Amino acid sequence: MLRHFVDLLDLNPEEARMLIDRAIELKRSGQEGNRPPLLSGRTLGLIFEKPSLRTRVSFEAAIARLGGNAIFLRGEDVGLGTRESVVDFARVISQYVDGLAVRTFSHTTIEELAGAASIPIINALSDASHPCQAMADFLTIEELRGSPQGRKLVFVGDGNNVARSLAVASALLGAEFVLAAPEGYDLPEDFREQYARRFPGIPLRMERDPRLAVAGADVVYTDVWTSMGQEHEAVHRREAFAQYRVDEELLALARSDAIFLHCLPAHREEEVTSAVLDGPQSQILHQAANRLHFQMALLAWLLGEEPGR
Ligand code: CP
Ligand code: NVA
Repeated sequence: MLRHFVDLLDLNPEEARMLIDRAIELKRSGQEGNRPPLLSGRTLGLIFEKPSLRTRVSFEAAIARLGGNAIFLRGEDVGLGTRESVVDFARVISQYVDGLAVRTFSHTTIEELAGAASIPIINALSDASHPCQAMADFLTIEELRGSPQGRKLVFVGDGNNVARSLAVASALLGAEFVLAAPEGYDLPEDFREQYARRFPGIPLRMERDPRLAVAGADVVYTDVWTSMGQEHEAVHRREAFAQYRVDEELLALARSDAIFLHCLPAHREEEVTSAVLDGPQSQILHQAANRLHFQMALLAWLLGEEPGR
């Protein structure tokens, strides 16, 4: 059956668990020198309308480690929705590659691609979500702290794509999620409605005061205040988020063994101080490395079926 990975709201808890377990297994076998060519001869397309280091390179490395290969296209190379319609693009690229990872501005573009393609479409970041990031982060949490069940993850900052995917991953894997954001930057209303329909009875907490929010946190997480595509709002956002910087003083209010995570890239001394980023509680490199391991599991799941074309 054709499966996409467009949003974590489409995943069920068993699938989320299976993907984490598979990632752990593939990571372990890789470390033992065993890289099974599970996707030998398969091709992953990547189309990115925004810059990327981690997502692009970890996807290309992941498919290579599984014995397949990648073709990278920048948005302007193909003119998605301008040179030709998203639907025509989706139908044509489905003839050449076995899966497509997409980084776009509008989440609707990824949904349209998934509606028209006959290959798995993977969300490599949209304005609404960053599912690969959030699942890789839960792999990191599991490796460092064991089961995420009952753990408290506090996201200090904008209710953006990364925050939304972390909220959903938390609900799928049994963690408690809290967002600490200034007024006007909470998780958006439409997302909250979708979440409430999908997870009735699992609260989505939002706090104004980051100091209250981080009390008892196992994980303190932040991301940039200005996401890609919002650069014109940067000055205003810097003012709005001034009290939401993660510094050593704020981190000290979390559990003493709390870990600090950031999806990166980071704006040092803006949303987080270098003392925290480079400090003993920071796990940002472990976290970045796990993008590769999670995506190997994801690709093996989505592209692992015998190709039917
Ligand atoms: N965290 C993340 O997605 O990084 P890139 O934008 O570099 O891919
Ligand atoms: N929220 C950030 C994440 C970058 C990985 C952005 O969308 O730019």
